[in-house]
Amino acid sequence: VSRKNKPKEYKLTIESLSNEGRGIAHYEAKTVFVRGALVGEEVLAQRVRNKAKYDEADTIEVLKASSMRIEPKCEVFGICGGCSLQYLSPENQIIEKEQWLKNHFKQHGYIEPKKWLSPITSESWNYRRKARLGVRFVEKKGEVLVGFREKKSSFITQMDKCEVLDLALNTKIKDLKICFSQLSIKKNIPQIEVAITDEQTILILRHLEELNDNDKQILKDFAKVQNITWYLQSGGLDTVKPLENEVKLSYQHKKHNIEINFLPTDFTQVNFSINEKMLNQALDLLKVEKDDNILDLFCGLGNFSLPLAKYANSITGVDFDKNLIQRARDNAIKNGLNNIDFFAFDLTKEPTQQLWYQNKTYDKIVIDPARSGALEIIEFLPQFKTKMVLYVSCNPATLARDSEVLLKQDFELKYAGVMDMFPHTAHIESMALFIKK
Ligand SMILES: C[S@@+](CC[C@H](N)C(=O)[O-])C[C@H]1O[C@@H](n2cnc3c(N)ncnc32)[C@H](O)[C@@H]1O
Repeated sequence: VSRKNKPKEYKLTIESLSNEGRGIAHYEAKTVFVRGALVGEEVLAQRVRNKAKYDEADTIEVLKASSMRIEPKCEVFGICGGCSLQYLSPENQIIEKEQWLKNHFKQHGYIEPKKWLSPITSESWNYRRKARLGVRFVEKKGEVLVGFREKKSSFITQMDKCEVLDLALNTKIKDLKICFSQLSIKKNIPQIEVAITDEQTILILRHLEELNDNDKQILKDFAKVQNITWYLQSGGLDTVKPLENEVKLSYQHKKHNIEINFLPTDFTQVNFSINEKMLNQALDLLKVEKDDNILDLFCGLGNFSLPLAKYANSITGVDFDKNLIQRARDNAIKNGLNNIDFFAFDLTKEPTQQLWYQNKTYDKIVIDPARSGALEIIEFLPQFKTKMVLYVSCNPATLARDSEVLLKQDFELKYAGVMDMFPHTAHIESMALFIKK
């Protein structure tokens, strides 16, 4: 690399943190957003982006460390794209995340809840029960890599274990690599998907070529020794099938005596322990009463709908995934609940022709959208004459944006708080309760 092409390196002092957790510094009057740096630190950083108004840079060396900085636990921290905050203790991570949420609210009309809820936290390692791991055969080395993608490339990280994956799998990555390197189709496995419950560990092997009998035997032997179950996927989602016997997956909301069955490809929250606490906080905030009619938007498998149905008059759940809606209906029957209706509908579309919308009112509404938020459907909320909206979010930027619209509809933000659903990563899960004025 010639000197001219070498990315700029500079010494920077971090003045504050941005709302995605990057350090903010200035270099010759230009703002620099620095990944991996904390307030008060002096770092050597390398420029990765040169925009007219600001630079983006990565920390390459910490020259003066903050007292909050700790040694990352994982061997591949800094390389692997999975975690980015291991240099902060879990306690400080969640304090930071609350601050980022505050900053997002501030940027959207200086929104401030009446009261901040204490963060919901749990064990910060080995929490992840859902994951997608990349697989790649590296010709030159003659070995198969299994792991998360690297931070700055599409390469698979060289890793043998993962500190955030559930204990059922976290140390088995090395064994998976050895297993895959014995398969005839080792060049044609792009990924595996992971779904773990208290009882089962399912690995869905995506393969672009048929497995031969020897491959199948190798996988069966691995399954026996490692106590996992293989599913195979040759094409789209409808091709997913067990290699041997089908197993049933389920999780519980124990306090409410609810059990939710699901398929390994279904959406479930990645962190079961936080999910249970999140649900209990939602129920507390909603103060559910016997005659409440509740609408659960983006309901998925019925994670909120099913326990809510135990305490309310009726629940209406809506999600655009037909398969999840079918499973949600089955789960209602399995749990003996006959006061729930589930509807498959794309909530970015106009709902005016929908049965669950026309001439309907709902006392309370739960909204738990994907990262893109719920702006389209929020515009249609006023006809429901709702007293309370509980918004669960995995993206503070869209939560803040949508909150602004709810406030214009004469709601006030009573509570907001963060949940440590994804420790060590930069993802933020949060909950906000809006009450009609
Ligand atoms: C964060 S998940 C929450 C699911 C459920 N509330 C739970 O706790 O398991 C978001 C859900 O939104 C659904 N979804 C995403 N985009 C949608 C859309 N445009 N219309 C309706 N549902 C959508 C997904 O299928 C998924 O089930």
